[in-house]
Formats: sequence, C-alpha cells, structure tokens
Amino acid sequence: MANSTSNSNEIDIEFRSVTKRFEDVVAVDNVSLKVERGAFFSFLGPSGCGKTTSLRLIAGFDQPSEGDVYIGGKSVVGIPSHKRPVNMVFQQYALFPHMDVADNIGYGLRQRDPKPARQEILKRVDQTLEMVRLSGYGKRRVWELSGGQQQRVALARALINHPTCLLLDEPLAALDRKLRREMQIELQTLQREVGITFILVTHDQEEALSMSDRICIMREGQIIQSGSPRELYDEPINRYVADFVGKTNFIDGDVVDAIGPLVSIKSESGQVFSGSQPPGAPPIANGNKACVAVRPEMITITNIGETSNATNITINGQVVNRIFLGEHTEYLVATEGCGEVMVLSPKSIESANRSFEPGDHVSVSWGPEAALIIGDT
Ligand SMILES: Nc1ncnc2c1ncn2[C@@H]1O[C@H](COP(=O)(O)OP(=O)(O)OP(=O)(O)O)[C@@H](O)[C@H]1O
Ligand SMILES: [Mg+2]
Repeated sequence: MANSTSNSNEIDIEFRSVTKRFEDVVAVDNVSLKVERGAFFSFLGPSGCGKTTSLRLIAGFDQPSEGDVYIGGKSVVGIPSHKRPVNMVFQQYALFPHMDVADNIGYGLRQRDPKPARQEILKRVDQTLEMVRLSGYGKRRVWELSGGQQQRVALARALINHPTCLLLDEPLAALDRKLRREMQIELQTLQREVGITFILVTHDQEEALSMSDRICIMREGQIIQSGSPRELYDEPINRYVADFVGKTNFIDGDVVDAIGPLVSIKSESGQVFSGSQPPGAPPIANGNKACVAVRPEMITITNIGETSNATNITINGQVVNRIFLGEHTEYLVATEGCGEVMVLSPKSIESANRSFEPGDHVSVSWGPEAALIIGDT
C-alpha cells in the first residue's frame, strides 16, 4: 500500500546484526533489518520468538548485547528511551483508572521538563482526541469506555508526543473479533493520515497480512523471511513461512530432479510433482527432502475423469468434509496416497457446476504454476 507521505529512500529504523541475550536465552539473534520512513511494518511470529524484545530495543527499554540500532540514520545505542523519537503502545496498555480520558492522554506532556503551558496541553489533548475520533470524550472516566475506545486512548497517549515512529505491541489482542477488525481499519487510516512509521507486533497472520506494507516473519529470535504480504504469500521460502502465512497443502517427497528453478519431487505414493522454487529460497539438491506446497484456492475439484488439462497434476479421492464460507466452499478431500487435500472453491464455480457432498468420489487437480517446491528450512 503506497503511502502518500512516505519517502521511499529514507530509512527510519535499522538493526545492524543485533543480538539480545537474557542470560542463556537468545531473544533476538543476529537480526539485520531496515524499516522505511512512513511504512506500516509488522513483526509476525509465535509466542516467545522475540517480537516484544525487538520493539523494546527500538524504544530503548532494552539495550542490544551486540550490534547497533539506528533511528533516522543515527545510532541510538546508549540513548535512553525518553530521548528517542518513538513511542510504544504496550501489550497490556494500562490506562490510569483514577484519571479521566483527557488527563490520561496529557500525562506524557505533564511529565516533561520544562512542562508545556496548561493551554498548550489542553490544545494538544483536543487535537489528539480528534485524531483518534474521541472528540468530546475528554471528561469520561476510562471505565466508562468500550474496549475499542480504551484502545484509542492508549494510542492517543502515545501520539500526543508526536513520535516519528509508533511501536504497537499486540495492541488489538484484548478486543473481540469484530471490534478488532474495525480497529485494524482505523489504525490503517490513522497511519495514512499522520504519515509516521508504524511498527506492529502480532502473532495473528491475518492482521499482519491485511494491515502491513512489509512483514518480517520471526522464529526463535531470527528473521526467517521479510517482504510484502503478497511476496510472503506467493513466494514463501520454506515450509515454516508457507504454513504461517495463509493455508497451504503440503505433500512430502524426495527431490528427484533439480535443474534450475524447476524442481521435481517423488512422494511416498510414487507420484512425481513438479514446481518452481521461490526466489531467494535456499537451494535444493537431488536426494534432499522437500515438499510441494499448493494453496487451496489454486486447486480445482471435479468429478473423476473430468479434469480439463492433461498437463495438470490430478489425484483422486473422496470428500470428507465441506464447509460453506459464503464466497467460497472449503472441501477436505482424503486422497489416494497424498493425505488430505484442502480445496477452496469459489462461489462462481460452485453455482455453475454442482457442488460436492461428503462421500463423493472426486478428482483434485492443479497446474504446474500453482505448485511451489520448498524445503523445511
Ligand atoms: N527480561 C527478560 N529476562 C529473561 N528472558 C526474557 C526477558 N524478556 C524476554 N525474555 C525471553 O526472550 C524470548 C523472547 O521474548 P519476547 O517477549 O520478545 O517474545 P514475544 O515474541 O513478544 O512473545 P509473545 O507473543 O508471547 O508476547 C522469550 O524466550 C522470553 O522468555
Ligand atoms: Mg510479546
């Protein structure tokens, strides 16, 4: 998503070979990354992979054991958090319950030395309330607000300091699904309006995919892959990324032919599958273990014998489950020799042909362009 205020050449945040150790735990392991000014950037990964620690290193709440963190082109190692042009919204955003909304938002300004004039604080609080669409809520107590409104107060409390970069640690985790979706849209709009860099931490892949310009996928302190949501979805460099981002079918096998980017594997059932290796993936050689990865929406489900294209991969099986999802129908097909295959069939095809029932004998098929051959690491 293009951002009108971003300058694509300017790097706002940079890690150069950053490692953070807590005694024998390596929370961040030799990470190098660049975040462009004005980008919406996400750290995505399972619990304990080092997401919060990465944010804390940017905010200055932790210092790297090795390597350098740069903000706006300057090394900030040793610079305390309150002198950095960043603000963090915490995983548990604790608002002050004894203060009203306006006092919560103005708190950071009142702590400044020198403290801004009262009128100036009131003006900035009003501007910030407007920014998060809470004009008129200044005198409310925080317990009189909904979860989403409290979340916006937490955002306002960070935004009032005019940071160049806002760090958001799982800011929507406490909200129910519907409210979370609404807040995701609001956060995106807000980011475009204020034009500052947002760095979001989440373990929710849908959230990362729908909101970010760039995503960095982490595992055990390391970056496994970074790229745009589309790059990560279409060209995952290994099974971990393909599995983490969206739904994928995997069929394991041994590499039997690896010439250039086109690779063939032979599955346990003896069937040969061909596909391309994603750009940037580690090379695969004959004899290696690998898998073919096919997204469910790239697979066609038909009656046996009705597959259209002779060059397609075709596997026969039996429908074991069908879930109607509105725009799509999701089928689970128990195949002969290749395990269960998930198929996402669009409504347009469902209504043109007949749909299938559990127990039906069917073929699932895909073209060579739908298949990626990827390794485990
Ligand atoms: N202050 C600390 N002392 C010791 N170990 C720590 C400390 N902070 C983090 N760790 C460890 O570092 C690793 C990364 O923690 P971190 O909080 O960055 O994970 P996370 O990706 O944010 O996880 P979650 O999704 O659960 O919030 C974990 O193994 C954690 O136990
Ligand atoms: Mg965390």
